[in-house]
Amino acid sequence: MNEPTDEFLDDPLAGAMLDTLAVRAGQRRSMEGEHSEAIYTTSSYVFANAAEAAARFSGEQPGNVYSRYTNPTVRTFEDRIAALEGAEQAVATSSGMAAILSTCLALLKSGDHIVCSRSVFGTTTVLLNKFLGKFGVDTSVVPLTDIAAWEAAILPETKLLFLETPSNPLCEVGDLAALSALAKRHNVLLVVDNCFCTPALQRPLSLGADIVIHSATKYLDGQGRCMGGVVLGRSELMDEVLGFVRSAGPTMSPFNAWVFLKGLETLRLRMEAHSASAMKLARWLDEQAAVEKVFYTGLESHPGHELAAQQQSGFGGVLSFRVVGGRDQAWQVIDSTRILSLTANLGDAKTTIVHPATTTHGRLSAEDKVAAGITENLIRVAVGLEAIEDIKGDLQRGLALI
Ligand SMILES: Cc1ncc(COP(=O)(O)O)c(C=O)c1O
Repeated sequence: MNEPTDEFLDDPLAGAMLDTLAVRAGQRRSMEGEHSEAIYTTSSYVFANAAEAAARFSGEQPGNVYSRYTNPTVRTFEDRIAALEGAEQAVATSSGMAAILSTCLALLKSGDHIVCSRSVFGTTTVLLNKFLGKFGVDTSVVPLTDIAAWEAAILPETKLLFLETPSNPLCEVGDLAALSALAKRHNVLLVVDNCFCTPALQRPLSLGADIVIHSATKYLDGQGRCMGGVVLGRSELMDEVLGFVRSAGPTMSPFNAWVFLKGLETLRLRMEAHSASAMKLARWLDEQAAVEKVFYTGLESHPGHELAAQQQSGFGGVLSFRVVGGRDQAWQVIDSTRILSLTANLGDAKTTIVHPATTTHGRLSAEDKVAAGITENLIRVAVGLEAIEDIKGDLQRGLALI
């Protein structure tokens, strides 16, 4: 995705490529002339006089008032990620879930309806069903790859289609161009959680999506340090989201924004390295006698391979595999690792391993697990930046016991 972009923020960056935007977009230097971006740890801002305070508060004069509204470090992060996604505007939030909640509460009202992919992050499902449902926003769930099912689920009340692609943990691929066309035909918004690919590998807005959401906690940070999220899209929609965030307060902290800014500078290099290592690991796992099946879009055998190759510029760092046997064998492989981190997070320099059926997807009913393909012998690995031979060796220890 390192191609010239039409959207740019500063004139010297007109037509700049992704790598340049990732390092430089959005930076405004203070009078101190700092080279690296400054962290503005301030909750409020002072005014020169009462008239200026009045003009700022009324919105007549642009400028900072209070950090729940705007903060220079957060704005620099918003402008930089907007440049990378090709969005008119970005709104940063305190977490990925806050980004999803803010989008829904800003753009939906009681009586509205959402169509959501079956294969989204578990907490997203809980948020939509348990909490938005309480306020009269209903959600229908459909298989990610079945365009006819998406169309059949759209009601007169439907306002929004929501998906992640590739999905977690089976790496199913949603057809962004086809779903964008469907959304336009029915005058609904297509919202894509782009957390797994990041703009370094996939830019959903350029394929017709209306809104992109990120958990910045994952690859945008890249080293598992901070919580954050962001919503991106055209200004008309983002003004509504910003209005909600200003009133409700799920704002990003300036320190976290600074960490994400530093993360963006190395994003493409990291995503390439994650993708290259995941590819090597997927091919190696595919050859192991103790492995029943590998799910990775980079493998030609994966049903989403061709579509992923079209709409992504890399296959990403997350893969999953089924071992021969059941839960005991999967846990044996996990418990035999000594380098990999047993944690549900992903998008980190440190490789993580998890048993979806009893952790990330543990709340699903037995039937929902079957429908989603979350079997007891499934293991998810989010490949980090360690030497891949060491990762293979760490997994080999448990696989050899099967
Ligand atoms: C795809 C996806 N979206 C959203 C989230 C939620 O993000 P956060 O944990 O930053 O709230 C996650 C978290 O794991 C995720 O994997």
